[in-house]
Amino acid sequence: AKRIVVLISGSGSNLQALIDSTLSGRIDGRIVSVISNRPDAFGLERARRAGIRAEPLDHKAFDSRETFDAALQELIDSHEPDLVVLAGFMRILTPEFVSHYLGRMFNIHPSLLPKYKGLNTHQRALDAGDTEHGCTVHFVTPELDGGPLVVQAAVPVEAGDDADSLQQRVHRREHEIYPLAVEWFCADRLRLLPEGVEFDGQHLPQTGLR
Ligand code: GAR
Repeated sequence: AKRIVVLISGSGSNLQALIDSTLSGRIDGRIVSVISNRPDAFGLERARRAGIRAEPLDHKAFDSRETFDAALQELIDSHEPDLVVLAGFMRILTPEFVSHYLGRMFNIHPSLLPKYKGLNTHQRALDAGDTEHGCTVHFVTPELDGGPLVVQAAVPVEAGDDADSLQQRVHRREHEIYPLAVEWFCADRLRLLPEGVEFDGQHLPQTGLR
């Protein structure tokens, strides 16, 4: 079984989906630590309830992004992970940190990338009048929300939606595609190559799987 470290900043509903799919055996992996840059993140409590090590690492205790990322890397590496999973981890990471985990770090983002990198994705999709929105799992590279795509799920934008209702619809799909991507990685079916993502030995299109 692969060793997985999950990084969070908040509620951790994606973490919960991953916990559930490791405990059910669907993912051939074990979450060996959950780390949060916010000590009060509810996701840490989810980890403890599942008997998983929960480790706050408060970024405010560090005087720069570089020193925080160095401490974070040291903590992560003490668990010798095969895969690092960003699940609502709301910090920009230094290129040095990202490069260290190249090909073994995933992020989930609440938009159909390459649309709406960054924050407030649901409101931005509404403001643009999009009829379709969604979420994306991608490999993390130094370009913010710009790494090669693994899998996307689309949801319709419905009349009367606001950012909250749209976010809820997207969240449900996140809880499906994140366990799926991690399952594939843990089964050695996904690889990051210089020219893009390989799935079962085939190059994926730039949009990933849908
Ligand atoms: C998720 O919607 C995730 O896509 C988003 O934060 C939320 C975390 O929810 N991530 C980002 O915006 C990354 N920039 P959760 O804590 O309930 O999993």
